[in-house]
Amino acid sequence: MGKLLVFEGIDGSGKSTQIQMLSNFLKSQKQKVFVTREPGGTEFGEKCRKLFLTQNLDGLTEAYLAFASRNEHILQKIKPALKLGHWVLCDRFSDSTIAYQGYGRGVEIQYLREMATNMEKQLSELRIVYVHTSLETCLKRIKNRGGVKNKFDNSSRIFYEKVIYGYSNIVKERGNNIIQVDGDDEIEKVFKKILQSVPELERFKTKYNHSGNI
Ligand code: ADP
Ligand code: TYD
Repeated sequence: MGKLLVFEGIDGSGKSTQIQMLSNFLKSQKQKVFVTREPGGTEFGEKCRKLFLTQNLDGLTEAYLAFASRNEHILQKIKPALKLGHWVLCDRFSDSTIAYQGYGRGVEIQYLREMATNMEKQLSELRIVYVHTSLETCLKRIKNRGGVKNKFDNSSRIFYEKVIYGYSNIVKERGNNIIQVDGDDEIEKVFKKILQSVPELERFKTKYNHSGNI
């Protein structure tokens, strides 16, 4: 059985960068890796993603879209990849819905948590890496990132402050299932911290130090 590692954090926190580094590193260690994201990950999920990122929707509608996309993602992609022994590296999952639609947009948090918990019952294990990066840093990075901006990239400071507050509560609630790293650190330092702190990656940490092969 493979392992599912989910990366969480606000936009620009550095999730995709760390996922890419981890994917390259694990592949260098002859591991099978499946990188995916939410909303998205399946044909249906990518359609949800497009609606999600471009339409002005009520927060609850956004949450339902995120959950619909997630359920198909679990069934069609995540579970089969885990069964084949892949490391599944997923950019965002349930905690994004709780942080963004719940804390950010005011949808009832308990309701979202219950839906998330039910959906996660389909998975035997779930490890989350929360990349905690200051809002100042993220806003600078989003500004410099270029490319097409989505509706969340243009969100207000107040919105992101609520989302960050949401993540801080989620970290407390999730306990040992979530590992927090400091995304304001240099890319390499963040990566080493992930290797050191995620129990599933324990056996690889000396490999990285010795070979430095990224
Ligand atoms: P996310 O996937 O969380 O939105 P990205 O990984 O796309 O964030 O990173 C956003 C931008 O910040 C990218 O241009 C990336 O190169 C840069 N970046 C990511 N992590 C760091 C870091 N630790 N230090 C400096 N720049 C970073
Ligand atoms: P994406 O480009 O993947 O985010 P990032 O900038 O972090 O790389 O865009 C996904 C956006 O959707 C992001 O702003 C967070 C938001 N989102 C939610 O609001 N709820 C959710 O359940 C998920 C999965 C994402």
